[in-house]
Amino acid sequence: MSHTKDHKNVYVLNQTNQLKGLFTIIRDRTKPRSEFIFYANRIIRLIVEEGLNHLPVSPAQVTTAQNVKFDGVVFDGRICGASIMRAGESMEQGLRDCCRSVRIGKILIQRDEESQEPVLHYKKLPDDIADRYVLLLDPMLATGGSAMCAMDILISMGCKQEQIIFLNVIASPEGLHNVHKRFPNIRIVTAVIDEGLDNKGYITPGLGDFGDIYFGTK
Ligand code: URA
Repeated sequence: MSHTKDHKNVYVLNQTNQLKGLFTIIRDRTKPRSEFIFYANRIIRLIVEEGLNHLPVSPAQVTTAQNVKFDGVVFDGRICGASIMRAGESMEQGLRDCCRSVRIGKILIQRDEESQEPVLHYKKLPDDIADRYVLLLDPMLATGGSAMCAMDILISMGCKQEQIIFLNVIASPEGLHNVHKRFPNIRIVTAVIDEGLDNKGYITPGLGDFGDIYFGTK
């Protein structure tokens, strides 16, 4: 995992051959949907594990079966997930696989057809969200409009930027720039930064519509 040189709170997974191989499969338009889901889930798991590295810990000592003390750590504080519907829901299982019985709220944001501005349609989040670290889930960061709308909602519920960790599969440079400029203290963990956006606002080279492929609605 590395910081980007431009943005202090943007963390990109190490571009290992394993990760490149996983992306080669999910970006390949000829692959069947079952492969997309399986390999996207593997990438999501890596992102969630990296996101958890950003939570605070305290020292904790245990005694091993060798009757020897081991100096380790325990996580401090409570967490919850918040998925930006619909594509963000694809990341929920990866979070559950790492954090048993984690609470996961949902936010539905859609673009207004005329103004093209993101509009909130639905939200259901834990009441005590302000007392938790929030892992905000959305696989594709394009312009950042939906992500920033979701972040505004979390902040309006009392969350501080420092408590929010945005977990993302593919980010565009534009989206990262926009989100980081507006919310410099929100940490963004992404698997890869792509080249840019096309004239329809899709990430390029990207992979198309993540939610449509994952949920089979293409
Ligand atoms: N959402 C997607 O699913 N794909 C993109 O390229 C951009 C946003």
